[in-house]
Amino acid sequence: MQPSLFDGGGSGNAPDAADWRVRAAWLIAELNRHNYAYYALDNPSIPDADYDRLFGELQTLEQLHPELNTPDSPTQRVGTAPLPQFDQITHSIPMLSLGNGFGDADIVEFDRRVRDGLDTHTETEIDYAVELKFDGLAINLRYEDGVLVQAATRGDGSTGENVTSNIRTIRAIPLRLHSDNPPKVLDVRGEVLMFKADFARLNERQRSAELKEFANPRNAAAGSLRQLDSRITAQRTLRFFAYGIGILDGAEMPPSHSALLDWYKTLGLPVCKERAVVKGAQGMLGFFGEVGTKRGKLPYEIDGVVYKVNRLQQQQMLGFVSRAPRFALAHKFPAEEATTQVLDIEVQVGRTGAITPVARLAPVFVGGATVTNATLHNEDEVRRKDIQIGDTVIVRRAGDVIPEVVSYVAERRSATAQPFVMPTLCPICGSEIVRLEDEAIARCSGGWVKCPAQRKGGLQHFASRRAMDVEGLGDQLIDQLVDRGIITTAADLYKLGIVKLAALDRMADKSAQNVVAALEKSKSTTLGRFIYALGIRHVGEATAKELASHFGDIDAVIQASEEQLLEVADIGPVVAKSILAFFSDQLNVELVEQLRAAGVYWAANLPAETKSKFLSGKTFVLTGTLPTLSRDEAAALIEAAGGKVAGSVSKKTSYVVAGAEAGSKLTKAEELNVSILDEDGLRTLLESDHDKN
Ligand code: IVH
Repeated sequence: MQPSLFDGGGSGNAPDAADWRVRAAWLIAELNRHNYAYYALDNPSIPDADYDRLFGELQTLEQLHPELNTPDSPTQRVGTAPLPQFDQITHSIPMLSLGNGFGDADIVEFDRRVRDGLDTHTETEIDYAVELKFDGLAINLRYEDGVLVQAATRGDGSTGENVTSNIRTIRAIPLRLHSDNPPKVLDVRGEVLMFKADFARLNERQRSAELKEFANPRNAAAGSLRQLDSRITAQRTLRFFAYGIGILDGAEMPPSHSALLDWYKTLGLPVCKERAVVKGAQGMLGFFGEVGTKRGKLPYEIDGVVYKVNRLQQQQMLGFVSRAPRFALAHKFPAEEATTQVLDIEVQVGRTGAITPVARLAPVFVGGATVTNATLHNEDEVRRKDIQIGDTVIVRRAGDVIPEVVSYVAERRSATAQPFVMPTLCPICGSEIVRLEDEAIARCSGGWVKCPAQRKGGLQHFASRRAMDVEGLGDQLIDQLVDRGIITTAADLYKLGIVKLAALDRMADKSAQNVVAALEKSKSTTLGRFIYALGIRHVGEATAKELASHFGDIDAVIQASEEQLLEVADIGPVVAKSILAFFSDQLNVELVEQLRAAGVYWAANLPAETKSKFLSGKTFVLTGTLPTLSRDEAAALIEAAGGKVAGSVSKKTSYVVAGAEAGSKLTKAEELNVSILDEDGLRTLLESDHDKN
């Protein structure tokens, strides 16, 4: 990078006017080049801090020498004084909307209409340009002799609003086209949108400034673009993708839609890279499927894909029906958001006693399914979003994510709306609900002993696939078993017989047999799964595995002190305290005992004859001081995996595990070519069998 004129040094003479001008022109070109690389090419060319430094220098230069100011300087993107209102602009060519299709049949039908319209009942398939349907706002950008002179919203399609000063703040939009020979007039059409990450950042800022949050990126983009004060727009990161054209004067129209977008790219306009040219209905449906799978990973929101007949000549032949072109179709995903009414707000009690407010909703079809409940997360969230009973709300269900209430519709709140009141007693067991000062979650204090909801949640967790993996023991079966008082703890599961199970609703002899067999099978498990199945708060699968490999034995985990727990990788004070609290409850220790008595086992407490063969026949010799394991601990781990620990090295020794200050045994091992492990190596060896036992 060139040094700044303000860096000092140099000859010490004040640079003359020509220098300023050259430097300013260089800075403008440089900043525009970096903007182009970042927004149009998606390939940043300098770190943000360097960009900001160049930008600052140009700003200072322009303040000192106002005569340098040019309309395409990047400093012109900071916004101007507020407008009293937006002027109306009549579009020279109307901005149309798109016809919609939802299922495969609609697409096949669209292709047929296109063929009919073109009178090509031949074998040749139509080429379609396929692209994304961005969830933002349509905009028309007018460039005259390559300079952005005006920007207008779509409005009603014929007349829109002049949002030029707002659009000028968007770094993704070039203020001047990259061309030595730009068209006299070019209307670029495309979508202004906000990326998901920028949306999240904006809402975080709104939250900390105690301002209203935006419901979704589209609303945030619309709200930002329709600011009369463009200095506010300048603080929001908006993006732009070009996808269409209005007037073109002084250049030849490219022959196809794809060629138009290629040309736009050379002009420095951002064009989304998720596009293609495909053949016929099959090609379009293939693209729809591909986009569907990557939708969630895209950095911005889309609500479908758009198909456009690629050849512009064919587009012209097809023309328009009412306000939509016959050459294009939007293939929409099922809406992920819908409005409905909150009938009630109830609370649910989770397996750890966590109280979650849940909105009971008037049934609504959203994200491809009918939704009747949506989570409100916790009490603070209900207050923050100010959701009340009776409100009309926006509900969101994206992919497999649990449906949630996004916001209420303020204009539709009635005077009879009722605020949510957090209950003080658990609705299931009547125990007190407590919320610790530094926690967002309120909990039922009954524990699983008193609270059937926690008992059910705990049992569901215990039986789940990644825990004890009891196939066929579903939520409804657990509900019945608990409600009828047949079982209280997980250990009771192993006392269930076919007769008792078969007597339950929706159970027959065969399904009862299957459950009993699945329970029997689940008895053979791993220590990691067993610890996870206990449902200790904050102990997820990974932590459970860590505990298992660190301690090698459940009794060691039960007896571990806080300091010992903190030695385990990834365990911090919160998790350590939670484990201590769990095992300080005698009932939990008894549960472990009862489960073992019921026949649950894992590698280290296997009955001798079924002991894992994994290290059997292997002889180990320990020497020196290992960094974290005592000699006894290391020996216990080896023996638990079936290995033997011997006192001296011979040709029969499989491994020597050597720590600090290892002596003659290590030398001997080297002489005899015996494999030598350090502590990490030993752990890796022991863990290599995790999947198998
Ligand atoms: S083309 C002549 N292409 O969808 C066709 N529109 O319902 C004019 N949109 O108002 C639009 N992505 O805001 C087109 N790739 C895309 C689009 C797109 C989103 C929006 C646009 C327009 C609406 C039409």
